[in-house]
Amino acid sequence: MSLRREIESLEKEANELIKNADSIESLSSIKVKFLGKKGKLKSILKSLGKLSPEERKEIGQLANKVKEEIENLLRKKEQFFREKAIQEELKKDRVDITLPPSWIEVGSAHPVVSTLVEISQLFISMGFSVAEGPEVEKEEYNFDMLNIPKDHPARDMQDTFFLNNGMVLRTHTSPVQIRTMLKQKPPIAVIAPGRVYRKDADPTHSPMFHQIEGLLVDENITFRDLKGTLKIFLEGIFGKDIGIRFRPSYFPFTEPSAEVDISCTVCGGTGCRVCKDTGWLEILGCGMVDPNVFEAVGIDPEKYTGFAFGLGIERIAMLKYKINDIRLLFENDMRFNHQFKGIR
Ligand code: DAH
Repeated sequence: MSLRREIESLEKEANELIKNADSIESLSSIKVKFLGKKGKLKSILKSLGKLSPEERKEIGQLANKVKEEIENLLRKKEQFFREKAIQEELKKDRVDITLPPSWIEVGSAHPVVSTLVEISQLFISMGFSVAEGPEVEKEEYNFDMLNIPKDHPARDMQDTFFLNNGMVLRTHTSPVQIRTMLKQKPPIAVIAPGRVYRKDADPTHSPMFHQIEGLLVDENITFRDLKGTLKIFLEGIFGKDIGIRFRPSYFPFTEPSAEVDISCTVCGGTGCRVCKDTGWLEILGCGMVDPNVFEAVGIDPEKYTGFAFGLGIERIAMLKYKINDIRLLFENDMRFNHQFKGIR
């Protein structure tokens, strides 16, 4: 067989093999077979020496052409395999954006906490700072020093959780007033949010609930300061249009004392079930600090005056979010809790 024929059949064979190759690996064995050092083309080129110069030139050119052609085909086929591999990879890793995602539950603040934070921030913006006290409290701080005499009904076993060690679960946040005044001299402007406990359970009472106490003591503090402060607070929570009234009342630790009502947030003041047809809702207790309390903590009542107030956070939260049973707040029924998502 002439060299030319040999080269041509070699070209055909290589073409065929490359066409049918099914992997990158098989391409490299084809490459070795035809183009390698011991490959078919090399051995043909080696025998060129035996040819006449014209033949050598002609066959040499043909061999080179075929070499280039095989190289080209190999490169193209390799490229094809690489592309295919990439496409397969992409297909495998494909993200189906129409599939529903696996949701991560996002929690939210409890309505009592968000109300507590909102109230605190209002007072902080007026210059009050936050004070704290323990929930297990000395009877002395919870009652005696707040001018609550030994025979006062609030000490009745019905209301107070007495502990074996002579301490009580604080029945209100007012003992934080005592703790603050014992370690800090006027001017004082604090609020004290926290848990309090009473033996009481029905749709509007829970044995554990939250209060915020307020105390401001300085020279020349008057009832007007109290009224102004509470007006800013109540309008901040319930809006500028809310009606506010001060009703004379009695607390052992304040004199004079008052209870503050707001116009009913449900009926707007015309009378409904929630306000028991009065048009008003009782919202907090307040008054001017009783001189007896100042004396108990060593603050001169001739020099200083002050006001105090206390309110239940659950009551505010219930009015704000229109919740009709306090127990809902503490049962942790997720159907209830879920409703407060997205509220601060
Ligand atoms: N401690 C009172 C209570 O639990 C609330 C209260 C009333 C607090 C008047 C005060 C106040 O500081 O001045 O019912």
